[in-house]
Amino acid sequence: MEDSGLSGKPLEVSTPAIDDIPEALRDRPEEVPPQQPRQRNSIMLVGLAGVGAIALGIVVWFASQAWQPSGIALSPVDSSTSESAIAPEPEPTLAPLQDDLLGHLPYETAPLEDLVPIVDNGTIKLRKAAAERFNAMADAAWRDGIYLVPISGFRTLEDQEYLFFEVKAQRGQVAPERAEVSAPPGYSEHHTGYAVDIGDGDVPATNLSPHFEKTAAFKWLEANAAYYSFELSFPPNNAQGVSYEPWHWRFVGDRHSLETFYKARDSANSKPQTFN
Ligand code: DAL
Ligand code: ZN
Repeated sequence: MEDSGLSGKPLEVSTPAIDDIPEALRDRPEEVPPQQPRQRNSIMLVGLAGVGAIALGIVVWFASQAWQPSGIALSPVDSSTSESAIAPEPEPTLAPLQDDLLGHLPYETAPLEDLVPIVDNGTIKLRKAAAERFNAMADAAWRDGIYLVPISGFRTLEDQEYLFFEVKAQRGQVAPERAEVSAPPGYSEHHTGYAVDIGDGDVPATNLSPHFEKTAAFKWLEANAAYYSFELSFPPNNAQGVSYEPWHWRFVGDRHSLETFYKARDSANSKPQTFN
């Protein structure tokens, strides 16, 4: 019986999928079937929506950075990421003192009975508490080989008038120039009996001069004066605008002296003032 070719012999069913592919392409990794036009349109729409959302987000973010409600305190921001980390905050500067005269504050004159001499001839005096601590300080300095010499202590109104109006006039200085180095009468810390001008007995040429700061006496005072409750009244660039006076020290070692200097300054500064 003639094999019809339809029976007895199993049908060779070749897979058209392979046979339809040219030999040169057969062992290739499975190809991604080409997309249909409808699928491509959907993907494009999703992509466009995504790009739009990102763009909108960027616009909203920039708007939130640029706009700040006026008159509302903002919560602190992380300084490591904000512009304040780059641009330093301007330092607030003290406004001119309100009760001052040419930068100097008004002071009461010490009662004469509270003054005691700090030099043998009795010409230089301080209030008792200040005098005791000054003497202790000078003794300690002496033990360290430093010769602290008092140059000026308590001054009356008349003393200061003479300094401000006579001596400075002889030097041809106008009032603001005088006030850089001397207080007007009624406005000197020397009236309080707590202020003392100090020199270096080994270098008298530096007395009442900025060069005093180079002396061993000044360096000793810088390191030790606070132990005796003395402090520099007019450091460089002080808020009162008075010239740097490395020789002028004041006692702040009891309640009255502390109030004398710090209340005078604080009450003057508590008046309305402006900041740059
Ligand atoms: N030299 C200081 C400012 C005074 O005259 O009181
Ligand atoms: Zn002085």
